[in-house]
Amino acid sequence: MSVSVTHVVEENDSSGKDRKVILEVKNLKVYYATPTGEVRAVDNVSFKVYQGEIVGLVGESGCGKTTTAMAILRLVQPPGRIVGGEILLDGINLATLQGPDLRAVRWDRLALIPQGAMNSLNPVMRISKQIADAIETHQGRMPSKELKERIISLLSTVGLPSRVYNMFPHELSGGMKQRACIAMAIALNPSLVIADEPTSALDVVVQRVVGETLLDVKDRLGVSMIIIGHDMGLMAQLVDRLAVMYAGRMVEISPVGTVFEEPLHPYTQLLIESIPSIKERKPLKLTEGITHDLRNPPPGCIFQLRCPHVHDKCLSVDPPLAEVRPNHHVACHLYYE
Ligand SMILES: Nc1ncnc2c1ncn2[C@@H]1O[C@H](COP(=O)(O)OP(=O)(O)OP(=O)(O)O)[C@@H](O)[C@H]1O
Ligand SMILES: [Mg+2]
Repeated sequence: MSVSVTHVVEENDSSGKDRKVILEVKNLKVYYATPTGEVRAVDNVSFKVYQGEIVGLVGESGCGKTTTAMAILRLVQPPGRIVGGEILLDGINLATLQGPDLRAVRWDRLALIPQGAMNSLNPVMRISKQIADAIETHQGRMPSKELKERIISLLSTVGLPSRVYNMFPHELSGGMKQRACIAMAIALNPSLVIADEPTSALDVVVQRVVGETLLDVKDRLGVSMIIIGHDMGLMAQLVDRLAVMYAGRMVEISPVGTVFEEPLHPYTQLLIESIPSIKERKPLKLTEGITHDLRNPPPGCIFQLRCPHVHDKCLSVDPPLAEVRPNHHVACHLYYE
């Protein structure tokens, strides 16, 4: 492959240890062209993912989570396009890669578990064949004994018994199907797995099992992950750092414990206050106001229409995402000098 490594960084992660940066997204912009103007689905988003960590990406529906994931994989479809920014994976800028180089990086180093993945398993093909196809399409034919051992080992990594090898999708429960999708995603030993709402179609018990499977895979393989989701409870258990998006922007990113204890951005505060609690029986806090039109963002802060702390500066100056506490980044005027 003729790509050059431009940017490999060792630096402190959330735990203060030196860790390799696997993914660095810098000033990413993805817009969708519509007859009434460009929808700024992802607007100037920057964040990093370190080796062996899980970053949770949260935010209300339509804030740009899936678009961010698709851009990292270079799978944004027209009328969408990457308008600007860099996507550095293991130091290689995916935003400018083309043709065979892009395909090689995408399948060798990145894996996607798309929204609703388990429903896209081929119903008339055994699980073994589906995983074998994923491996052989990208790594070429291999001796059948070796291939079978590898598939059974992958199934075992995601906690599935070897009998699943010969089964069809309809013979598996929802949680087992989702785990088969995880096995398929890790089949090529990627550096980064992106899972878009991997547990949203499952009941709470199975959600836990799938969540534990993802954690286990991360620990065993040392793979990095981005998990997109809405369930803040599950995020609290699964992820190392939480990244919060609002209307196409990254508004806060920090170790998950810190953000739950002391959320800084007013949107994150509302998000965490709205988690229902049986013990406290607090009234549901609704976020009042409307999200602005993504085709026509206002000058200043994007959260100004809903923010309980809005002041003059917020109406004119766009707050940058800045590290206001160690490892805690926020885009809000309340915290700058
Ligand atoms: N093909 C498209 N054409 C125009 N706008 C689009 C298109 N796809 C997405 N968008 C817009 O881009 C924005 C971000 O969408 P995206 O699917 O990334 O959100 P999301 O955070 O993943 O939402 P959800 O939680 O509902 O999955 C939304 O406002 C959406 O309406
Ligand atoms: Mg989505």
